[in-house]
Amino acid sequence: MKNSAIDAIMHPESLAVVGASTTPGKIGYTVLENLVKQGYTGKIYPINPSADEILGLKCYHSILEVPGTVDAAVMTIPAKLVPQAVEECGKKGVKGLIIITSGFSEVGKRELEEQIVDIAHQYNMRILGPNIVGVLSNSDKMNASFAPYLPLPGKATLVSQSGALLIAIDASTYTRGVGFDKLISIGNMSDLDFADMIAWLNDDPNTSCVTLYVEGFKNGRRFMDVCRASSKPIIALKSGVSAHGAAAAASHTGSLAGAAKVYGAAFEQAGVVQASDLDNLFDRTLALSLQPPMKGDNLLIITNGGGVGVLATDAAERYDLPLKFAPAEVQAELKKHMPEFGSAKNPVDLTGMAGNEWYHDAIKFAYAHNWVDGLVVLYCETAVTDPLEIAKSIKSALDESGTKGKPVTVSFVGGERSEKAMSWLVDHGIPAYGAPDTAVNAMAALREFARMKEMVNESVAACGEEGRAEALKVIEHARAEGRDSLTEIEAKQVFSAYGLPVTRTKLATSEDEAVAIAREIGFPVVMKIVSPDILHKSDAGGVKVNIKDEAAVREAYRAILTNARNYKSDANIHGIAIQEMAPWGTEVILGSVNDQTFGPTMMFGLGGIFVEVLKDVTFRVAPVATSQALRMLAEIRGAPILAGIRGEEPRDRKVLAETICAYSNMILDLADEIAESDANPVLVYAEGKGVKVVDARIILKPRP
Ligand code: COA
Repeated sequence: MKNSAIDAIMHPESLAVVGASTTPGKIGYTVLENLVKQGYTGKIYPINPSADEILGLKCYHSILEVPGTVDAAVMTIPAKLVPQAVEECGKKGVKGLIIITSGFSEVGKRELEEQIVDIAHQYNMRILGPNIVGVLSNSDKMNASFAPYLPLPGKATLVSQSGALLIAIDASTYTRGVGFDKLISIGNMSDLDFADMIAWLNDDPNTSCVTLYVEGFKNGRRFMDVCRASSKPIIALKSGVSAHGAAAAASHTGSLAGAAKVYGAAFEQAGVVQASDLDNLFDRTLALSLQPPMKGDNLLIITNGGGVGVLATDAAERYDLPLKFAPAEVQAELKKHMPEFGSAKNPVDLTGMAGNEWYHDAIKFAYAHNWVDGLVVLYCETAVTDPLEIAKSIKSALDESGTKGKPVTVSFVGGERSEKAMSWLVDHGIPAYGAPDTAVNAMAALREFARMKEMVNESVAACGEEGRAEALKVIEHARAEGRDSLTEIEAKQVFSAYGLPVTRTKLATSEDEAVAIAREIGFPVVMKIVSPDILHKSDAGGVKVNIKDEAAVREAYRAILTNARNYKSDANIHGIAIQEMAPWGTEVILGSVNDQTFGPTMMFGLGGIFVEVLKDVTFRVAPVATSQALRMLAEIRGAPILAGIRGEEPRDRKVLAETICAYSNMILDLADEIAESDANPVLVYAEGKGVKVVDARIILKPRP
């Protein structure tokens, strides 16, 4: 039923315009005019209680008077009239509604919006909108919107949460030369949302790439599931970096998690390519809609100019596709298509003497070679060559190579003749750009898509029931005492229940007990205040390290208590934790937040006291698969520290990645309990020697 409703919206055979206006310039007039004049071949029924004819079409006073069936209805009447109109559409048997009208949840009228969704669902109808521009489809020649014209035809489909931006993009498809089959405005997403449209577009033969402009999701996890299941490339531009959670956050992780970072992580895990800005969205859409994914890392650049070659080389490194020299046999063959002073390494510099033939022969050979996973062809306009002829040579070389399924992008740097040649290339399915950097960035998008697709379906190990029962016991105890945070000892018990390696820690409530525990654990020890009212223990003078004997234990015990009382005189002090002093290791931080869109989300970064200043952290939505955990370790700026610097042994990244996975399982399993948490620092030892959680913090979710 669901899909047939979206089918009805996207390919209606009959369409009513409820609120078709008699007045040119009004939205209800423009929508009707667009349908009538821009080639829509289905039946159009204008609905207006006080008109008999509009734009030469018979006008019905109510949708219930229309003689035949009506697949979908576009609504352009004021918000307060929409509920009744939805009801009438339901009675008429309409399947899908395109509600252009504004004035619903976006202005706080949530109830009115819920009312129209309830009515629609009673009749098995689905709603696109409200608060949208409409739907534009080249393959159906349907402009069911108040945007002025259908976009430049192409193979991508845009789904946009902003209506104004959709109209602007519509116009710029022509100036940019990037075509779309459909533009879909989804506005308030009262019913149909990104996930519904992506799932539907996966089966749409006229869409090869789904382009998203995203402001926010209601259900982030469903979006991720649908994207993972999609076989088509999806590219997203996300706007709006909210400061949500940052100000009030009680943990380090909470203050470091910005919406943008969590969205970025979710896109990566769902296999969604990201765009950095609007230009980048177009550039990458062009490549993703025309070219296959790049399945390996070997990028070959062929150029007639050293300068653009170097620019492209820099870009390749910037976009995570660093160039390697081509193998000797590839170089030897390419040498045949250039003068003595050319270079066959990579970039392959055919030199300014290169004409059609050298381009053709070098490309034909390189494209077919197994070593090459992707090809970027650069050309600087010269007086002795015709850009269009070069473009044609590129195309024929690719066709004659007998190879398929490998991506190519092109950049021509020059004037009007180059522009024309690039349009010709795009018309023939080869993405072409005015700057070498852009051609490489577009190739990087094709590589990112392939790389993410390889990883998205990796399964994640589940965690055992035992850990959960043990952890819940600790949590219940704290809740019974009316607390919303666990003490360090309790937090470590929870971590330990899920297999995280924590330092041995016991609570002492007297000096004598402290001495006995220290003896049992073995010197040196660390002593820390345990109080639910003191979260930042060091700030309160509540931590003493490297305590070597009994006298020092007694002295530290007294000092910590005095400091804690001075810091917060009414603090509830449980006692002092005596803890094994773990040997020095590289300090990292692991943490979690319960993101409002994506739920439990993991953070990893280099730890220590500078973490909040350097913000060198990265996120993943839980559960985190091992490959993703390893990527987290590799993508922070401080990654070389984990790899081992200045003769130090590499750190135990394998165990650290496993710890991230176990932690992520814990926060997912305890999603109803844990609001935020962190393990900071976690000490990471040399390879084979593991990691140790030295300090732990868990903030509980309030019970509803
Ligand atoms: N059924 C059908 N037609 C009806 C109707 C009903 N129950 N009640 C009224 N109409 C007719 C009106 O008579 C009018 O036709 P007319 O111009 O020939 O008299 C037409 O529907 C439109 O109604 P009107 O009251 O004139 O509304 P409007 O055109 O001023 O505004 C909207 C209607 C939907 C355009 C406006 O409410 C709105 O939401 N605008 C913002 C839309 C937008 O920007 N959306 C995208 C955001 S990105």
